[in-house]
Amino acid sequence: MTSRVAFVTGGTGGIGTAICKQLADMGHKVATNYRNEEKAKAWQAQMKADGYDFALVKGDVTSPDEAQAMVREVEQKLGPIDILINNAGITRDGTFHKMSAQQWGDVINTNLNSVFNVTRPVIDGMRERKWGRIIQISSINGLKGQYGQANYAAAKAGMHGFTISLARENAKLGVTVNTVSPGYVATDMVMAVPEEVRAKIAADIPTGRLGMPEEIAYAVGFLVDERAAWITGSNLDINGGHHMGW
Ligand code: CAA
Repeated sequence: MTSRVAFVTGGTGGIGTAICKQLADMGHKVATNYRNEEKAKAWQAQMKADGYDFALVKGDVTSPDEAQAMVREVEQKLGPIDILINNAGITRDGTFHKMSAQQWGDVINTNLNSVFNVTRPVIDGMRERKWGRIIQISSINGLKGQYGQANYAAAKAGMHGFTISLARENAKLGVTVNTVSPGYVATDMVMAVPEEVRAKIAADIPTGRLGMPEEIAYAVGFLVDERAAWITGSNLDINGGHHMGW
């Protein structure tokens, strides 16, 4: 298996950490970004204790300039980026009639504009080398909508629009572009949902439980594999049967 360089945005979060580990377990060199130095160093130390050596670069994915600088730093540290996982994301939930422009803007900038900011400086190299894997981590709520998430659902649906356009533009150049849409996974983000709301949501999941971060990371590993070369422009739903469609 070829060892490649992977950049996972938001890799210190719940799903992000599992993705970093999955890619490293496949033999890839993995980098992620951070904004909070103290939190990042603690995370890196924990990862070392778990047997993983991840590169860290400082920067905010909402800034095109910082995103470009991070990409160049990863390339300097590890080599050209062949695998990009656009995973960084936040929630600012609230019913739309109460939603502020700040809540809207923060989520669109972090979850959607970041995808432009980070992919733009990576795509030329992938096209030149004729190999690449780009995966957007979207959400079940980008597909079905969610009470209190007009901002988040708009951003997450937008991510897949990006996927299917970029997939068409780069299919002949060996670059696949796909979306993974997790349902409710046991991470800090989901645990921040008020308990009584969360209990109702969990009761609606046919498997009867929240997902595990590793169950999302497994799908990312599958799509990154050399043998997934003909899978492009697809969305993979992983939600315990919470939302089914075709
Ligand atoms: N369906 C129907 N009605 C709902 C509802 C729902 N899902 N959720 C709330 N309501 C109703 C309440 O019953 C209440 O009705 P009454 O006024 O008649 O009693 C009303 O909405 C409350 O509305 P408010 O505008 O006052 O809402 P609030 O300020 O109390 O907060 C909320 C509402 C922020 C949306 C809160 O319900 C919430 O946090 N919901 C969870 C949203 C969610 O699923 N977020 C996912 C985060 S994790 C994630 O995003 C990861 C991922 O990808 C899956």
